[in-house]
Amino acid sequence: MQRTLLSIILALAALTAGAKNILVNTPNTTLLLTAEQGKTVYVQYYGDRIEDASQVKNAQIGRTPAYPCFGYGKDFFNSFALSVVHSDGDLGTDLCYVGDTYNEKDGIHDWVITTKDSKHNFEVDLCYRTYDNCDVMEMWTVIRNGEKKPVTLEKFASAALPFRQGDVWVSHIHGKWATEGYLTEEPLNKGVFEVSDIACPKNAFLNRPNIMLSLDGKPSENSGRTVGAVLCWSGNFKMTVNTNFEKYHYLVCGINETGSRYTLGKGESFTTPALAMVYSNEGKGGVSRNYHRWARLDGKIHNGQALRKTLLNSWEGVYLNVSQDGMEKMMDGVQALGGELFVMDDGWFGGKYKRSVDNCALGDWVTDREKLPDGVPSLQKAAEERGLKWGIWIEPEMTNTLSELYEKHPDWVISNPGRDVVCGRGGTQLILDMSNPAVQDFVFKVVDDIMTETPETYYIKWDCNMEVYSVGSSYLSADKQSHLYVDYHRGLIKTLERIRAKYPDLVIQNCASGGGRINYGLMPYFDEFWTSDNTDAEQRLFIQWGTSMFFPTCAMAQHVSASPNHQTGRELPLKFRFDVAMTGRLGMEMKPSDLNEEEFKFAKNAFSTYKEIRPIVQQGDLYRILSPYEDNGFASEIIVAEDKSQAVFFAYKFRQYAKQQDWPIFRFDGLDPDAKYTLTELNRVESPEAWEGKTFTGRFLMNTGLELKLKGVYSSCVIRCTRQ
Ligand code: DGJ
Repeated sequence: MQRTLLSIILALAALTAGAKNILVNTPNTTLLLTAEQGKTVYVQYYGDRIEDASQVKNAQIGRTPAYPCFGYGKDFFNSFALSVVHSDGDLGTDLCYVGDTYNEKDGIHDWVITTKDSKHNFEVDLCYRTYDNCDVMEMWTVIRNGEKKPVTLEKFASAALPFRQGDVWVSHIHGKWATEGYLTEEPLNKGVFEVSDIACPKNAFLNRPNIMLSLDGKPSENSGRTVGAVLCWSGNFKMTVNTNFEKYHYLVCGINETGSRYTLGKGESFTTPALAMVYSNEGKGGVSRNYHRWARLDGKIHNGQALRKTLLNSWEGVYLNVSQDGMEKMMDGVQALGGELFVMDDGWFGGKYKRSVDNCALGDWVTDREKLPDGVPSLQKAAEERGLKWGIWIEPEMTNTLSELYEKHPDWVISNPGRDVVCGRGGTQLILDMSNPAVQDFVFKVVDDIMTETPETYYIKWDCNMEVYSVGSSYLSADKQSHLYVDYHRGLIKTLERIRAKYPDLVIQNCASGGGRINYGLMPYFDEFWTSDNTDAEQRLFIQWGTSMFFPTCAMAQHVSASPNHQTGRELPLKFRFDVAMTGRLGMEMKPSDLNEEEFKFAKNAFSTYKEIRPIVQQGDLYRILSPYEDNGFASEIIVAEDKSQAVFFAYKFRQYAKQQDWPIFRFDGLDPDAKYTLTELNRVESPEAWEGKTFTGRFLMNTGLELKLKGVYSSCVIRCTRQ
């Protein structure tokens, strides 16, 4: 009733106003939409900020539907965002403008454009949100069924946008276990480009729900019109760019519809996840920095402005061989190194089944008293006595066939009805069905029980080591089985919201066999993510570079591990390992007692140095300089404090080539050209270079740069720049 009234008011308002231009502005960009009563809403322009829509019209720039629908009208081309089977079986949808609203509060701007089908009582709100502190524009829709009977959503993307055809390139991130976060760049050719994932709940291993489009040819870090698209969804997703003989590359992004047909009953609505867009003239770097600011400042990662503590995580040190003595020895080590937090990883729990092998006990979150006779609270006290915070590992959405939980609730797992369960890790792992409210309560209680037993718990590592191999829910009715993928993630978010309401200050790491779930659907509830199970510093250069395209340094957990590395067998100097880990949230993933005396001294100094530069590294603006993907064997980046008073520059040499002509001059970036900076090398092991303690203008460092004496393969250099 209220909605109908609102529609009438909006319609009347629109009638009197006639056709209108709606400028969705960020500080530096504009999306121009045109809306006319009873007609399709069109996108006219997305680019540099304009104040005057007539420029676009006078330039004769074409238009495309803002939310193209399947099945009716001349505007329905190959690419569409919405496909509905209406209650009478009609396949066509024809959304027409009814009215719009605009609101601003605390620097957040919201536009809602209401559209309605020309035949059915079926509405879609096109929603747009921008922020005063960055150039991110979020777009999503609210789909409402006002028809007398249920409708079925066959496709329900969040948004669609056109980009003029040309030498347009796409950058995307992909991988698998231990190689996640890899960057690939390619020109958009005719046909359909797609990145998608169907691995619910580990949705970001193979592909991540984020791409960049470089509109002016081969992607560049610092120049060229570049667009970013990030889907804020933790479930199955699909991002496509359709290129044919039309004028436009057509981008459509949203929930992956495969196996996810969604029924909306009379009066029900469906809100699609936000697609966060950035347009920048400063290349990929400009796009990244906007996402980083938005993540830190606009709540897109939890507690984005808090400084993250250095830590030691027990996994690669002892794996499942957790013991009281072993944990305390590691605590001694990290205390002596100057670390701030100790995290006990997998292996600490189990009742009837003990987690000494990775094939049992998930779901049985009771302390294994054989391994830890004094219990978890005593370990927290032991950490506290050493001046350390305490953290613990859980994998709350999972169980094993060998667990008391599964014996009690076999119907709680995701599995295709009437078929054998298909298990993951250890041949026994299964996923709990988060669409089921009883499971949501259980998962909430896992965290709540930990916090009740040990209220001083500072940090939780929340793992997720399985994808769906057998789709089906015992909770959902037969006609709603295809709701599982969506409802899983809604149930997970609901549970996380409950956890956050009660434990806003608890630091939670998002881990999914490493970086298997790095997405902005989840990050508003997580403080950081485990970037990869691969801790080989050379490989990390690639993984961290790719991940930094969309995610800020403060969220990237980067741990120094043993040499030879456990994933690759590669031997690397400790300095190189630290220098690579120090560009994000620094930690360790080894027994400190395995360091020799000299290494220990180096590591201790590095921890202390990191704590000094932490505000710059975790809250500064990242400028990527030399890409490891260029195959020159070098990589470098600089992180610059927002007021440009400080910066930390990192350079790495990780291949040995004999082609001296490829030896780069390391040019800095992001500094104030007119300011003077004094340079100090950090983590130095060699005698000082000529520039040590000397002062240079920002302009000189950025335009001329330094010749660094990186001696041999796996050498590195970290330089602090302090404005005078
Ligand atoms: C996978 C994670 O990525 C690792 O860091 C570790 O926590 C293991 N799971 C524990 O089973």
